[in-house]
Amino acid sequence: MISVTEAFQKFRSRLELTQKEQDDASRRQKEIREVMAGNFKREDDFLTGSYRRHTKTKPLKDVDIFYVLHDDERKKYRDGKPPSVLLDEVERVLAKEYGGDKVHRQRRSVSLEFPVSGEEERVISFDVVPAFTKGDHYEIPDTATPKGWTETNPKVHAEKATAANEAFAGEWKGMVRMIKRWNQEKGKPIKPSFLLEVMALDLLRPPFGGNYPLEFMSFFASVADRIDETWPDPAGLGPAVSDSMDAIRIANAKTLLRQASDAVRVAINLGKAGKNGEALRAYRDLFGELFPLS
Ligand SMILES: Nc1ncnc2c1ncn2[C@@H]1O[C@H](COP(=O)(O)OP(=O)(O)OP(=O)(O)O)[C@@H](O)[C@H]1O
Ligand SMILES: [Mg+2]
Repeated sequence: MISVTEAFQKFRSRLELTQKEQDDASRRQKEIREVMAGNFKREDDFLTGSYRRHTKTKPLKDVDIFYVLHDDERKKYRDGKPPSVLLDEVERVLAKEYGGDKVHRQRRSVSLEFPVSGEEERVISFDVVPAFTKGDHYEIPDTATPKGWTETNPKVHAEKATAANEAFAGEWKGMVRMIKRWNQEKGKPIKPSFLLEVMALDLLRPPFGGNYPLEFMSFFASVADRIDETWPDPAGLGPAVSDSMDAIRIANAKTLLRQASDAVRVAINLGKAGKNGEALRAYRDLFGELFPLS
């Protein structure tokens, strides 16, 4: 029978994106960038967010595309304009190309959904984030803040994730993907999932001890203790990443996080008692059906 460590390693690799998923995403995003370029003068564009950082979990959703508008577009979309003017136009442009039912306006971006080639019922989606440069970083529309625009520096987020991963024996990104998978499995108590990644920068403390269950047990317990704190943008620019967690969400998240930490403790004890099969099933209850039993 598969050991617990082997099961976590297998689970981790099951959460990695396949070549086909990456090819699909790559083809679609190039096309989207060109549609944008046909309508907004381009300064730069690139993939960003958790997809770029390899901290995205499966199923593959919400690949972030940063589209940086040229300064010539400022008059039309930025200077004195509310963020909705730019987001409306991005929505209109994408809806014209792909159909209104595929396109949805969000707080900071416009999302776009495609069926996965060859697979019924599965979709891949993109978040198109329009941006302007600001000094060495960017500002993006944000309809949920009074200022209307949020400063961000995705490069700093990527550098911090890479540094954390190196300090954690190359296990940090894999563990973040597993933790995000738990969040999905439990109905997304923690919103946005980027908050879990931000907390993991502080709370997955190196060195990696080599024991996944112990690391997860202590991570879930620490997040439960500290989910009511304010968690700033790691680049020190945007609003607190925890700004969507209201009191009700926090209370619900605390309960589920404590349950998760307790469930890992129970599973560890099952393993110690030689009940390996039961331990694996307990981890599957926590992390979902991609967690292997054999
Ligand atoms: N409060 C914030 N301030 C500054 N930048 C932010 C903030 N929230 C998110 N970002 C940046 O925007 C990116 C995209 O946000 P998003 O919510 O899609 O998170 P994500 O890390 O891509 O996670 P997910 O796997 O849920 O897509 C983040 O990766 C981060 O670089
Ligand atoms: Mg994202």
